[in-house]
Amino acid sequence: MSTVSQFFQTELPHGVDTVWGWHERPGAFLRLAPPWESLTLLERSGGLDVGARTVFTIKKGPLSVRWEAHHTACEPGRRFVDEQRKGPFASWIHEHRFEPTPTGCLLSDEVTWSPPGGLFGRLAIPTLRTGNERMFRFRHRRTERDLDRHAAYAEKPRLKVAITGVTGLVGSALAAFLTSGGHQVVRVVRRDPEPGDCLWDPARGQIDHQALVGVDAVVHLAGASVAQRWTPTHKQAIRESRVQGTRLVVDAIRRLEQRPRVLVSASAIGFYGDRQDEELTEQSGSGEGFLAEVGKAWEAASEPVEELGVRRVLARIGIVTTAAGGVLGRLLPIFQGGAGGPVGSGEQWVSWIALDDLVAMLHCALYEQDWSGPINAVAPRPIQQRDQAQILGEVLGRPAFTPTPSIAVKTAFGEMGEQLLLGGQRVLPARLQALGFRFDEVEFGAAVAHSLGLR
Ligand SMILES: NC(=O)c1ccc[n+]([C@@H]2O[C@H](COP(=O)([O-])OP(=O)(O)OC[C@H]3O[C@@H](n4cnc5c(N)ncnc54)[C@H](OP(=O)(O)O)[C@@H]3O)[C@@H](O)[C@H]2O)c1
Repeated sequence: MSTVSQFFQTELPHGVDTVWGWHERPGAFLRLAPPWESLTLLERSGGLDVGARTVFTIKKGPLSVRWEAHHTACEPGRRFVDEQRKGPFASWIHEHRFEPTPTGCLLSDEVTWSPPGGLFGRLAIPTLRTGNERMFRFRHRRTERDLDRHAAYAEKPRLKVAITGVTGLVGSALAAFLTSGGHQVVRVVRRDPEPGDCLWDPARGQIDHQALVGVDAVVHLAGASVAQRWTPTHKQAIRESRVQGTRLVVDAIRRLEQRPRVLVSASAIGFYGDRQDEELTEQSGSGEGFLAEVGKAWEAASEPVEELGVRRVLARIGIVTTAAGGVLGRLLPIFQGGAGGPVGSGEQWVSWIALDDLVAMLHCALYEQDWSGPINAVAPRPIQQRDQAQILGEVLGRPAFTPTPSIAVKTAFGEMGEQLLLGGQRVLPARLQALGFRFDEVEFGAAVAHSLGLR
């Protein structure tokens, strides 16, 4: 049987205890999962100790591969080892090492593995090797960045944070980030609550506000997806899930004896309407069209929380960029197949933000007392759609010349396609920059490459 060994190492400017502590906490496993893999965590028990178990599935097209890992060695603060008990490899042993250095911690990952049996497995070795290089490149960079973000508030108290929309793209990333930083997350869910969760039903105006007792902050992200055909019924769901949902959150906060200090509520750059010819900042007024109307009503619904003495931050979120989902998640298979290209005129502006920068911005909003009101959550360099297509082609090494005419977008997606795909807005993060927020991702291509574990 062929056995392959691979070794990855990064020096981190954080002490061994900090780096070990981060790995030990719930949330770290999901932070380390590559965004381009469709991974579902089924079970995790035992922390890093010997006997700890992690079970997850990875979906590849129609197939779902189950992976069971058991921890077989653990020397706290020095090393731990996990081994695949069931999974896609014939064998997989992963040693994680933490060594002190004069300036921090040397983090090393050594994997020793054998491919699945037979000729096919042996032929797959170069691909599997490259896949691991991508994965560990991503993991080390994300570990470093997450630790940096947490270090900025290391002296502040850990928080208890309620999150609505916690199963979504942004909510799940934020919850994993916060728990890996030692914060407690109260998941506000519409179904299948687990102990400690807060059950709510925004459509019926019901919320278990007792489950929110003691929360320091609420991050409100819930809302029906805008990325599907806007039938009259779905438009109603988009609007009502946001407006009624927000009113319900405010109502729950009102009923609490001890209120959270801050409500960070999602909004969207759709607030500005379809405006191509001007640079938009938080000073700009709202625009026209369905999304702008929803945005205005959504933002207005949280206003009464200020009368309750709760600081309110409105994150006007741009196009969230991650291989894990959202717009990029949908575009990737098209571009990987070489069928991507300009949509309509290609001149429409795309104001994007890397998912991890958004998570970091929401994290800052929990602590920074002078953050309030609308804040554009977008990267400093929006791009036009045809440039976005070209960059995606370059990053993926695929042609990206196939045009999609406007008429095809209108026919396939109706009003949603007109506003979201053919329309756009050039939004700048004026307040984030004035507040001194540091973006990790400023260039769209670099953000995509990081999210795919590419150089
Ligand atoms: N992703 C983007 O590019 C982007 C851009 C601009 C603004 N935003 C806004 O940012 C927020 C989070 O975005 P996201 O990408 O994480 O969205 P997402 O993946 O669609 O998740 C939204 C979550 O909202 C909850 N939800 C869905 N339908 C609902 C309904 N009818 N009533 C109440 N809750 C409902 C769901 O959580 P549960 O099932 O757990 O309740 C869902 O997981 C959203 O409000 C979105 O509009 C996102």
